[in-house]
Amino acid sequence: MRVLFASSEMFPVVKTGGLGDVTFSLPHAISDLGVDVRVALPAYRSVLEEVEGLRVAGWLPLASGEEVRILSARHSAIEVPLWLVDAPSLFDRVGQPYTDPHGHDWGDNARRFSVFSEACAMLADDRLGIDWRADVVHANDWQTGLLPAFCALLPTPPRTLFTVHNLAYDCQVDFRTFNELGLPTYWWSMEFGEFYGRLSMLKCGLVFSDLITTVSPRYAQEIRTSEFGYGYAPVLDRYADKLVGVLNGIDDKTWDPATDTFLEAHYHAAGKIRSGKRANRTALLAAMGASTEAPATDGPLIGSVGRLVYQKGIDLLLDAIPNLLASSDARFVFVGSGDREIEQRLLALTHAHPQRVFAHLGYSERLAHLVEAGCDLFAMPSRYEPCGLNQMYSLRYGTPPVVRDTGGLADTVIDASPRTLARQEANGFVFEEATAEALQAALERAFELFRNPKQWMKMIKIGMRSDYGWRRSAEQYLLLYRGE
Ligand code: ADP
Ligand code: GLC
Repeated sequence: MRVLFASSEMFPVVKTGGLGDVTFSLPHAISDLGVDVRVALPAYRSVLEEVEGLRVAGWLPLASGEEVRILSARHSAIEVPLWLVDAPSLFDRVGQPYTDPHGHDWGDNARRFSVFSEACAMLADDRLGIDWRADVVHANDWQTGLLPAFCALLPTPPRTLFTVHNLAYDCQVDFRTFNELGLPTYWWSMEFGEFYGRLSMLKCGLVFSDLITTVSPRYAQEIRTSEFGYGYAPVLDRYADKLVGVLNGIDDKTWDPATDTFLEAHYHAAGKIRSGKRANRTALLAAMGASTEAPATDGPLIGSVGRLVYQKGIDLLLDAIPNLLASSDARFVFVGSGDREIEQRLLALTHAHPQRVFAHLGYSERLAHLVEAGCDLFAMPSRYEPCGLNQMYSLRYGTPPVVRDTGGLADTVIDASPRTLARQEANGFVFEEATAEALQAALERAFELFRNPKQWMKMIKIGMRSDYGWRRSAEQYLLLYRGE
């Protein structure tokens, strides 16, 4: 079986969030099952700088008028073949995959990813003439929403899967832009890609694909409701029989406290948990600029890593912190960036409590790993969370997550209650309402258990010993690729 996996990001060459992690791990896990899987990425400038062994695989003339070059490339961490869709006027730029250096969406995003998607369909159909034709095309999020649609135009269409990693981002274009993109006119109809007077690239993915997957079973249910559906619930209802939730895994080689190269000290479920976590906590606090003169505290250290956006509910945590600082000896560490307003509020808290609230506003792989290892608890109060990877990292690192009962968080975290503790099932803390009060109450419950070291150690070992690897999910995808 031959699979073309098309994505707009892939760790470690380009990543803005979990999609980059998944695009790295899933194709490798599928390839381990004996499938010939190849990944296609846009040739962003930053990617061209990261990879080696660039070779021109051929040229693809596209119906949209663009001519793109396909490069094959290598990277020491990537073991599956990598194709880069090279269209310098669209991708060879200074900035992020979707935003310019000022943080604004690129004005021509629709064109950039329409061209990328069309090129991927041509690759799948062996228009390079290299005797490689895809049986299955796996597209991801709105950036490749048009790919199942372009595939449907091929004389022998491959089977297409469209994975929704986040329904809230869809990329809509107006009629003028739609015409400029030169897309088939019938795509602009309610039955296909038209969505409230615009063309939605996400909707094209939903409608034209043979199968829609999303990244957790709970999210697969949630997106059919008006609360989480972002207007797409009726569309998803209509296609309910081709919608499946498959839980993401984590890259358990990169995220392993026994070998993680970013850590100060290693530990594992069978040993050195206390000393290992203590050494990492010291390194983390030093890196965050905590004063070494400040009196040591045994209070819990709560960590947060991620995009500072509405989805993640960080504002709820910021609301809860003043009360928690007053009622406990907890401290907080943040690594992330995003909305200006949330960043400003966070900075104000760090200034008001310089030895108890710490923040690194930016992206740091090392700090992300140190937070997982050095903290006692990991806060993820997301309003919605299609899957979420950090809660699984933190489970593996002996740092119980405190999460809201939604999406992949609900599918991976089991709340500590007298019953689940007695049954040795509990691995974290779960709360219902998206309010600061509910989050505060969950954190207070966590602090209480934290003060019982024996019970605490028992609980963290449950998370550390669980398997969050990709194999099980990869096997599920394989069945879906085969249409079973
Ligand atoms: P999302 O994709 O919605 O952002 P996920 O939990 O699926 O959320 O994945 C986020 C990924 O990005 C994780 O690997 C996380 O560690 C990483 N990440 C997010 N923000 C940062 C940051 N500021 N520094 C380092 N890593 C980050
Ligand atoms: C999205 C979601 C996140 C998920 C990730 C990978 O960015 O927000 O919950 O884990 O994709 O599927």
